[in-house]
Amino acid sequence: MEREKILVNSALPYANGPTHLGHIAGAYLGADIFVRFNRMMGKEVLFISGSDEYGTPITITAEKDHVSPQEIADKYHLSQINSFNSLDIKFDKFMRTSDPEHAKDVDEFFINLLEKGYLVKMYMISPFCRELNKFMPDRYIEGQCPYCGYGDARGDQCDNCGRILDPIELINPVCKLTGNAPIFTATDHFFLKLDSLQGELSEFIDSKSYWKPNVLKFTQNFIGEGLHPRAITRDLDWGVKIPLKGYENKKIYVWFEALIGYITGARIYSEEIGKPDYWKEFWMDKNVRSYYFIGKDNIPHHTIIWPAMLLAHGGYNLPYNVPANEYLRFDGEKFSKSRGVGFTVDEVLKFVDKNSLRYYMASILPETGDSDFSMKEFQLKVNSELVDKYGNYIYRVESFIEKNGLLPHKPETMDYEDLEIMNILHNKFAEYSKEIGDVHIKRGISVWLELVMVANNYFTESAPWKLIKEDLEKLNEKLYVSLKIGQYLTVMLYPYVPSAAENIWESFGIPEKLAGARFDDVLNTNEFHVKKGEIPFKKIDLNNPNIFDIQLATIVSVEDHPNADSLYVIKLHGDTNYQTVSDLKNSFAKSDLLGKQVLIITNLEKATIRGIDSECLIMSVSDGNSRELISGSGSDGDPAMLGDYLYNGDHVLSFKELQRVELQISGHHMFVRLGEKLLPLMLNKIYINVMPENMERVLIK
Ligand code: 2FM
Ligand code: ZN
Repeated sequence: MEREKILVNSALPYANGPTHLGHIAGAYLGADIFVRFNRMMGKEVLFISGSDEYGTPITITAEKDHVSPQEIADKYHLSQINSFNSLDIKFDKFMRTSDPEHAKDVDEFFINLLEKGYLVKMYMISPFCRELNKFMPDRYIEGQCPYCGYGDARGDQCDNCGRILDPIELINPVCKLTGNAPIFTATDHFFLKLDSLQGELSEFIDSKSYWKPNVLKFTQNFIGEGLHPRAITRDLDWGVKIPLKGYENKKIYVWFEALIGYITGARIYSEEIGKPDYWKEFWMDKNVRSYYFIGKDNIPHHTIIWPAMLLAHGGYNLPYNVPANEYLRFDGEKFSKSRGVGFTVDEVLKFVDKNSLRYYMASILPETGDSDFSMKEFQLKVNSELVDKYGNYIYRVESFIEKNGLLPHKPETMDYEDLEIMNILHNKFAEYSKEIGDVHIKRGISVWLELVMVANNYFTESAPWKLIKEDLEKLNEKLYVSLKIGQYLTVMLYPYVPSAAENIWESFGIPEKLAGARFDDVLNTNEFHVKKGEIPFKKIDLNNPNIFDIQLATIVSVEDHPNADSLYVIKLHGDTNYQTVSDLKNSFAKSDLLGKQVLIITNLEKATIRGIDSECLIMSVSDGNSRELISGSGSDGDPAMLGDYLYNGDHVLSFKELQRVELQISGHHMFVRLGEKLLPLMLNKIYINVMPENMERVLIK
């Protein structure tokens, strides 16, 4: 039988800055969980997103950084890919809108709509800055929103009430670059005739009673107010070219072209897997449902503009569901790349692991209203739910089985209580499936949590430590049911926290992996060969005192400093490339250093030493005479810990501070004093050794 197909698209994030937790909560984590769940249900899923590389968000950043827009897009395209990878968010294709293949699809769309009469040429009144002598993009004009009165509305959209705006509607508009009031003057552009699609769009919306109430209401209001033609080209240099002669100075508007990226992504993926028509199965077969995971500021583009474009073009499926999320807030403020509110993915992963982060974020997804990211709540939920309740449950059951050399197997019969537990497992799984299937991702994990509570009570009440002395048959039954509970919990956790769930799964000794498996298969295996593993979650300690970002790096080049006889310029490779200006020249020849793996501190205040930037410090110890590098073994970029603490992610070390750090060597091991505590320097769980051990007065140099 052919498998049911679904198409899952996540909004194409602008490639203009590091990925923020606000984005993850808005459009990506929920999508990844939904995709993993549906695959385990046996569906064939295509999961697409990509970098949105045109538009003023990119040019504004490029101007600020004094580089070209393409450089910004290149840099952040890679950065977005890394952030998604580091959170186990796995698209089938993460395309980019600067890909020439994308321009091909946009051309086709544009010409198709033009030929069918859905695009018309009209004059539009645009803001023109006299001082700069050019038309200004909508986003460069700011003023008061005519609908809600918000003072900092942009010419394209009001961040307060979410309306799409035209700059001419703003009250007291000013040009963002010069602060002058723009003049509004005519320029000719292509317009999408939304008005002639009003009837079809209303019909489309009428069939969407299952949409989230806020998405549906917003869309109905928008359509109800009457649709007007919308400009889909702009007076800009940076964008997809208009495929017609005489329009060399204008470009296609980003919000027309980026949406087509969903099709391009699917098409490129199909080429890549050698089945060039595969994407059509998802876009043209009427039975295939498509889901768009987006943030709420993208609602009108996905529930009106995109359906209008698809209706006008013909032949493609319209969105089946657009489960837009609200905002994630941080201390009450909206997460924002541009205003630096909240954490980027890279920042937060310095002090918590991806599994804990996915778990916490899933449990606060802003699905029904804005939600608040709080470090305190994060710590509480992870430590009590994931570590103490779930992790500890698995550990208790498995330790008991292992310690006593048992091999629980399916019993012939079960008592009433155990049949009841098996029932609960089936019912909770059905409840969980229904929630996630309906895109209630947050509710799915709360059903899981209810089951965790059942688990611990069950094990405690079964008291296997008594049964082992009294009734071995009952013992087998109780342990078997305990393992079944653990199996359900781990399988159900997988879409949410895949890496950790996979690790725990291995400890059940079931040969099949969770990645790529179906629920039916992995829930119905009843043979366990338990081998207790380690609990793959660490408790979060918010009082983490470790202010040192230390990692392993290989020295890749050593040069003399051009302006200082006693200094080297050393390049290293750790988690990324680093350069340092170092006085190791007094103690080491170049050949002693080249190729060595050493520990470096990377969160130092930046310094320029005799004209050359120095970004890190190579750790060494000295007793005044001889000097030793501090090395360790592992892969470049491996983080060093102080005792149990990874770097707390939140400190720039000044040189003064560094000089005050107290180091001690005891035996061969090196210790660092942080407040009250003396903590050992560790790499990959191994103490760092320092030779010779009798160096008494040790300095970090
Ligand atoms: O809000 C954003 O980040 C937009 N770049 C989303 C675009 S979604 C679609 F057009 F692809
Ligand atoms: Zn407004």
